[in-house]
Amino acid sequence: MTRHFLQLSDLSPAEAARVIARAQQLKSSRDIMHRPFVGKTLAMIFSKNSTRTRVSFESGMARFGGHALFLHSGVTQLGRDEPIADTARVLSRMCDAIMIRNDSQADQTEMAAYSRVPVINGLSDLHHPCQLLADMQTWAEHRGDCAGKTAAWIGDGNNVCHSMIQAAELFGFRLRIAAPKGYEPDAGIVASAGDAVSLCSGAAEAARDADLIVTDTWTSMGQEAETQRRLAAFCGYQVDDALMKLARPDALFMHCLPAHRGEEVSASVIDGAQSVVWDEAENRLWAQMALLEFLLAA
Ligand code: CP
Ligand code: NVA
Repeated sequence: MTRHFLQLSDLSPAEAARVIARAQQLKSSRDIMHRPFVGKTLAMIFSKNSTRTRVSFESGMARFGGHALFLHSGVTQLGRDEPIADTARVLSRMCDAIMIRNDSQADQTEMAAYSRVPVINGLSDLHHPCQLLADMQTWAEHRGDCAGKTAAWIGDGNNVCHSMIQAAELFGFRLRIAAPKGYEPDAGIVASAGDAVSLCSGAAEAARDADLIVTDTWTSMGQEAETQRRLAAFCGYQVDDALMKLARPDALFMHCLPAHRGEEVSASVIDGAQSVVWDEAENRLWAQMALLEFLLAA
């Protein structure tokens, strides 16, 4: 049966652990002779901007001997209202996997329903599961097993936060979320993680004694018209030195990037000693190569 990766919970805990371990193995070996995807292609549909997601998938396919096709949705027939189901049927007869970045999780689910090949969520309004594979690899790389540890999410209860919630359940860590009123994560996604996730009343409460502090932009792609309102609402939610001091002394700082210094994070934190954001960005490459291997072997 074709496996898709539309949200992190599409993997079992054992599968997720296997993908992360494999990602680290690929990173350590950097074996350019391992070319399992010769002749294979990945179609990458983007209706939103990207640096990391595009380059990591494109580079990963090339390293594996395959090829990635960058398809901006605006210059395909999708941009002229060809149905997503028809697009899925056509692309999946020509390509070995499809990656899609757009607004709609529902459209991605529809694409998967009509695709013969794995469909990968490269970000939607609801989830960003590829990001969390890289984050989990990075946490393990720096601090070993994260089971039983505590992460704090500070800021918007957005797509990356939703994937982090699923990661908490999958990898067995506790997640404390501090989001302003009206910007909390989806209640259903929070509930599905059970005891692993709790909502806090402020940034300090979430950060205290945490092993990992994570944030993301206050204004996600597509929300630009709300920027001024959001800047006001998120006052007090910047990850700065004072907040980092509340966490454990060996706490790490992560951000999926792109970042806005002086808004969700101070320059001193993101460019400081506890920040692992460049490893986190690099690991998009290794984690997604491991994911592609896993999905194409399934
Ligand atoms: N973190 C992330 O997905 O980055 P891009 O938007 O640059 O792909
Ligand atoms: N939450 C951000 C993540 C960007 C990688 C957005 O959706 O724009």
